[in-house]
Parts: sequence; structure tokens; C-alpha cells
Amino acid sequence: MHKNQVRKAVIPVAGFGTRLFPATKVVKKELFPIIDRDGRAKPVIIAIIEEAISAGITEVAIVAQPDDQEIFENLLKNPPKKELLEKLSPQNQEYSRYLQDLGNRITILLQEEQLGYGHAVFCAKDWVQDQPFLLLLGDHIYTSDIEKSCASQVLDVYEQVNQSVIGLTTMSVEIIHKAGCVTGVWQDLNSILSVTQLYEKPTIEYAEQHLRVEGMAENEFLGIFGLYLLTPKIFDFLEEHINENFREGGEFQLTSCLERLHQQEGMTGYVVKGKCFDTGLPDAYRQTMIDFRKF
Ligand code: UTP
Repeated sequence: MHKNQVRKAVIPVAGFGTRLFPATKVVKKELFPIIDRDGRAKPVIIAIIEEAISAGITEVAIVAQPDDQEIFENLLKNPPKKELLEKLSPQNQEYSRYLQDLGNRITILLQEEQLGYGHAVFCAKDWVQDQPFLLLLGDHIYTSDIEKSCASQVLDVYEQVNQSVIGLTTMSVEIIHKAGCVTGVWQDLNSILSVTQLYEKPTIEYAEQHLRVEGMAENEFLGIFGLYLLTPKIFDFLEEHINENFREGGEFQLTSCLERLHQQEGMTGYVVKGKCFDTGLPDAYRQTMIDFRKF
């Protein structure tokens, strides 16, 4: 095995999805359907798992609410009922077998209480076992502008730099107050960045004063893309925040721990050559339904 080879990926899916209420009262947002490039209707979580697998990941953990364990198990571990399987087209029968194979690589972990994204990531600590791992948001899907998938690009950069890598995308000033924002110094212009600061949901004033990146347009910043390659040191910071009950907006957040990780070990930002589609908001989901199929 290559010394830096990353085998594990973590996908937290335990959030309540309040922004998609009341749909999320009955369907987890990670199970909402999307139509992929092949015209196949699939739950968002499958597209995210496929993104991880495309990068050579061999084991995936999803972090779920205990009440949702059964539904994820049913999707990812159980074959369709015999009567349904028999009625499927040959292509869908084959896809069903492929899903079964995929299921063998998946572990379902539980987040007993919904204490935030950072807390959900911490729930994977023992499973990750002190290795670097790929982290993917449960409500974002990706298409690459080049042959290599987005997750694969991030892994390649990790192999080059041997420190945590955070996927980035250019964001217009109007939306940065909703996103994690990053600044730093270009190592490779418009591609690889040595991160100097991460900041969650900055105001426009804060971003203009502190988060400008050389060479970028006045109204553009670097936002977090939702794909991260993290060293296991992140768990120490998450654990500290949890033990000290250090909450932000009532929850244990990831970004402040990423900020500490970068201070301690350094972090590379990588502007992913691809598009990120949000499925966590009504209008974003609607647009994703239309656009994801096209790219
Ligand atoms: P979000 O910030 O989108 O929160 O979570 P949410 O609860 O899912 O949705 P809203 O904001 O209420 O609409 C980012 C990711 O972290 C997971 C979510 O499932 C999503 O993939 N998450 C969030 C957890 O696993 N546990 C939590 O306690 C919170």
C-alpha cells in the first residue's frame, strides 16, 4: 500500500434537515432522489458514496440517527424484495447487485444526540482509527470538470502535500455569509493554497477585511466545497470542544476545529475542478435536480 493511501471515508447524515421541513419529517434529506448522468433516479447518499468510491476509498462510514439506522440499512445492506427484484429491468437488476456490493463496504455508525456536524464527525473517531480520512457532507453532490472525480482530485493533492486538504470553490460575496470561508497564500495560482485562516459564515465586512485572496475579483472569495481530507488530529480538537462544552450556535462545529488543525499541522486548500450541488435547501435542491443530470 502506498504510504499515504487513504482508505476510509466518513459521511454524516444525522442532521434534522430543518431547512427542508416538512419533507424531512418523513424523508431524510440524504434520501431525497436525484437523477444522475445516466438518467437513474437514486437517493443523494448513493451519489455521495459513489463519489468516495471513485477516489479509491474502500470503506465508508455513514453517521446516522439511531431512528434512521433501519432505513439506511434497508437501502444499503438489503436486496430489494423478491417480487420487486423480478420486475426490475435487467439494467436495474444489475444496478441492484452493484448496490449490494457497495453495501459490503459500508458501516453505519450512530450519533445518539444531534449535537452538530462536528459532533457527528467525532462519532467516527474509533472507526477511523488514527488514519487520514475523506470527509464528505451528506447534502452535497459533485460533478468534475475533468476526467478525475472531485474526491479523487482532493486525494491526489493530499498525496502531494502530505497534510490536511480542504476542497474549495469560488463563491460570490452575496453567499459567503451562509458558507465556510478560507483565505491563504497561493502555492499554485487559482489551484493550491497554503491556508492561513478558516472562518464560518463571515459577514461581508469581515470577509472584505480578513478573507481576501490575492488575484481574486473584488466580489469573490474562497468557500468550502464540502470535501475534506483530514488527518486524525481533527478528533483531538473535536474531543476538546466536546469535553469543554464549547458550542457555537448551540452545536459542536467542525470549522473552528479545522482552524485549529491548520494552526497546528498546516492545511492546503485546493480549488476543485468541478461543481458542487447543494441538496440541503428547497431552491438549491430544485436547481440540483435540473442541473446535476446535465453535467
Ligand atoms: P447541516 O448543517 O446541513 O444541518 O449539516 P442539518 O441538520 O442536516 O440541516 P439544517 O441546517 O437543519 O437544514 C451538515 C451535515 O452534517 C450532518 C447533516 O446530516 C449534514 O450532512 N449532521 C448535522 C449530523 O450528522 N449531525 C448533526 O447533529 C448535525
